[in-house]
Amino acid sequence: MAAVEKLFQSKKCLELTSLDWLLDHHKAKEQERRQMVAGLDLKPGDVVLDLACGPGLWALLMAEKVAPIGRIIGIDFTPDLIEYAIKNLENEPHRDIIEFIEGDLYFIPFKDNTFDVVFFGNTLAYVTDPLKALEEQKRVLKKGGRLVAKDFDGAIIIFHPIDVYLSLKVLTATARGLKGNPLQPRFDNFVGRKMHGLLLKAGFKDVSTTTYAISKTVPLKPETKRYIAGNAEWYVKTAAPYLSEEDVCQWRAHFDPTCDEYILDLEEFYFCMVEMVTIGTL
Ligand SMILES: C[S@@+](CC[C@H](N)C(=O)[O-])C[C@H]1O[C@@H](n2cnc3c(N)ncnc32)[C@H](O)[C@@H]1O
Repeated sequence: MAAVEKLFQSKKCLELTSLDWLLDHHKAKEQERRQMVAGLDLKPGDVVLDLACGPGLWALLMAEKVAPIGRIIGIDFTPDLIEYAIKNLENEPHRDIIEFIEGDLYFIPFKDNTFDVVFFGNTLAYVTDPLKALEEQKRVLKKGGRLVAKDFDGAIIIFHPIDVYLSLKVLTATARGLKGNPLQPRFDNFVGRKMHGLLLKAGFKDVSTTTYAISKTVPLKPETKRYIAGNAEWYVKTAAPYLSEEDVCQWRAHFDPTCDEYILDLEEFYFCMVEMVTIGTL
């Protein structure tokens, strides 16, 4: 156990809301994110709230759809991320219709019936009281407005050609690790499957869920490599207390470019995960 504890401590755990991670994550999936935004059926003139917008990257994609007369408001409670989002607007063609504000998603600083769409991008996983958060969004949504929740489900993830048995052990141990030792701040790695029911419970109508498979093969861009390796490290770090030292080392070797077992340049490499977009109408 002592050796596993040492391994558990040996790599810095990925900070899933850090700016670097969010930028890599976005660049790695920009094409798929564009597809998801296209599926939202946003219209010129729509007023959209990008909730917990982080560095504001979804806002830029949505602005292309609501321009030239719509508006996008991004809100996040992390000052550094809002600062980046504002600075990053400088060279954006649609900067005049985008605004970023520091704030809390439980207390939206807008009056009732303001928004056509409220968009939660990779955020519900962090929300301690999702129903309370959705009540606040119902307040600021216009009648007939739409709530969009976009997230992923971490139980469905493939890092091929890692041995399937090792992969399933890591995924199972991750679920065990999260259950036995819930992360602070809260993070629900399996929120994707719950969003459909959550929107129904919150009283939204015409709830529908579209599932997207995100797959990556070689050659991988540097940001995609960092994203996939970072993800793999997050899993094994979370799972480590319930894995053998050998399993942890074997897993890590697959993502270490100095090891023979490195997989991110192999022709047969295949990464896949699923993301969900759930939409409900008020
Ligand atoms: C994984 S990041 C997603 C950021 C962005 N939506 C994206 O997809 O790039 C989660 C974000 O939720 C924000 N957040 C979490 N709880 C919040 C709250 N109560 N109010 C506002 N922002 C919150 C964090 O600051 C962080 O930027």
